[in-house]
This record gives sequence, C-alpha cells and structure tokens, in this order.
Amino acid sequence: MKIIKSIQELRDTLKTFRREGKTIGLVPTMGALHRGHASLIDASSARADITVVSVFVNPIQFGKNEDLDKYPRRLEADSELANAHGASIIFAPTAEEMYPNGEPETYVRNKPLESLYCGSYRPGHFRGVLTVVAKLFLICLPDFAFFGEKDYQQVFLIEEMVRTLNFPVEIVRVPIVREESGLALSSRNEYLSEEERKNALSIHQGLLAAKSAYLAGERSVTKLRNLVIQPILLNRGSVQYVEIVSTSTLEKKVGHLGNEKLVILLAAFFGKTRLIDNIELEMV
Ligand code: PAF
Repeated sequence: MKIIKSIQELRDTLKTFRREGKTIGLVPTMGALHRGHASLIDASSARADITVVSVFVNPIQFGKNEDLDKYPRRLEADSELANAHGASIIFAPTAEEMYPNGEPETYVRNKPLESLYCGSYRPGHFRGVLTVVAKLFLICLPDFAFFGEKDYQQVFLIEEMVRTLNFPVEIVRVPIVREESGLALSSRNEYLSEEERKNALSIHQGLLAAKSAYLAGERSVTKLRNLVIQPILLNRGSVQYVEIVSTSTLEKKVGHLGNEKLVILLAAFFGKTRLIDNIELEMV
C-alpha cells in the first residue's frame, strides 16, 4: 500500500490504474480510523479494484470553537488498518496541498439543507464537507465513494450534490457500526471518560425505545421524541436536537406521523463531547 501526499502524484497513479481498466473506490475520512471506517474500506475493497482512503482533517468544516486542533491524528496506525482491509492507497495531503491559498473563495453549498439539524449548530460545517468531498471526487475521479450512515445528513447532502452537479460517481451508504453496548463508533468517542461512555449508551437505548413504540403503532412525534430525550437526560446527557424526519427529503415532522419512510436524527452532549446518532423507523 502506498501513502501519497501530492494531488498530482495521486492523479498520475490513478490514471495508470484507470488505463488498465481498473475501477476505483474512494473512502473519504479524517483519520483516527476505527471499525466503522474498516467497514467502509471492506465495502470498497469488495466492490472496486483499487481502494483509495483519504485521510485529511479538513479545516474548513470545523467552527472556530470546535475540536480542529485536538482532533486525533495518527497516520501510521491508520495506514496499518487501511492496509489490513485491502486499501491500495492512502491519500494524506497537507492543508496547504488542499487549500494553497488558505480558506477558499469557492464553495459547494446546499442552502436549505446545510442549515438544518447539525448544520444549525455548526454553521459552515456542511459547505466545508461538500467542498472537500467535491475536491476529492475531482482529484480521484472514483467510480464509487463510500460513506457511513451515522452521518445521515452528511451522506444525504453528498447524494444531493452528486445528483445536482452530475458527478460521475456512485455513492454507497454503509450501515452504522456499533460497539456491542450499542454505542455508535466515532473517532470522537475517545474524548469520553469511562462514566460518560456508559451514560452515552442511553442514546441508542432511547432510539430503540422510540423505534419499538413506532412499530407498535405510536405515531405522536412528541411522544416518540420524548422516548429518546428522557433516557439521555436521566444519564446526565444534554440534547442538542432530536427530530423525526423524512428519509427522502429530510423534512422535519411535527404532530402525527403519516405513512412514509422516517428516520430519527439526534445530537447530544456527554460532558464536552458531542455525539450524533440515528435510527430508521421501518414499516411504511
Ligand atoms: O465524515 C467525515 O469524516 C468527513 O466529514 C469527510 C466526509 C471525510 C469530509 O471531510
């Protein structure tokens, strides 16, 4: 497996593979790889001939008071994990390589959706994500790109971008990977103390309780949201948002739920650590 830091070198390398008729899968990450990322790399290795894992802590998707400086960086361990799961190339550019003129003047945005849910608490986050993902697509020209469903709003916005701007890439969603305890894997879990980690299990417990109530016929948005919120509050968490939204438009639901595919999206804090999670409510 090769570690490449220059855009030009990556382009040249991938051009050779493409000429040989090989397909390319891209797994965009910010590093600190865990089993969740491994499942994305596995999915790419199963589908594409060549898997590129990008490792880039993208500065333009972090707000001023967020964790850009303390975000875990460990390229060596990341390379080992990626290699073990069949990646051919790690693309690990510097911020200067990706943004030679500093913060860009040109962004990819989705004005209505970028300011909902996570976006309403993290202004500028999704335009930073869409812009770097668009750059990665144009640098790698992948046939497939793999994203985890934990970042539900992110993958939805990326799919919208690909449709709207006609990027010739197939987006593959990969289901959330959870610890046995139910906690969704995230690079930010390592910020949690032992007690916070235990308390954070209430997120998945609440989501499961709401899903069972939904499957048993409960259709009140207030009641279902409360089933998610209460366990988090009882376990010393604070809720940033819990919303039930349409899976096809991300429109927020109020009142009484009708017959459509829905997902519960949430963000909650345990201590200073912000965690996100979601669960689809099946049966339409
Ligand atoms: O999900 C992430 O890790 C990041 O938002 C992504 C997609 C790699 C863009 O920086």
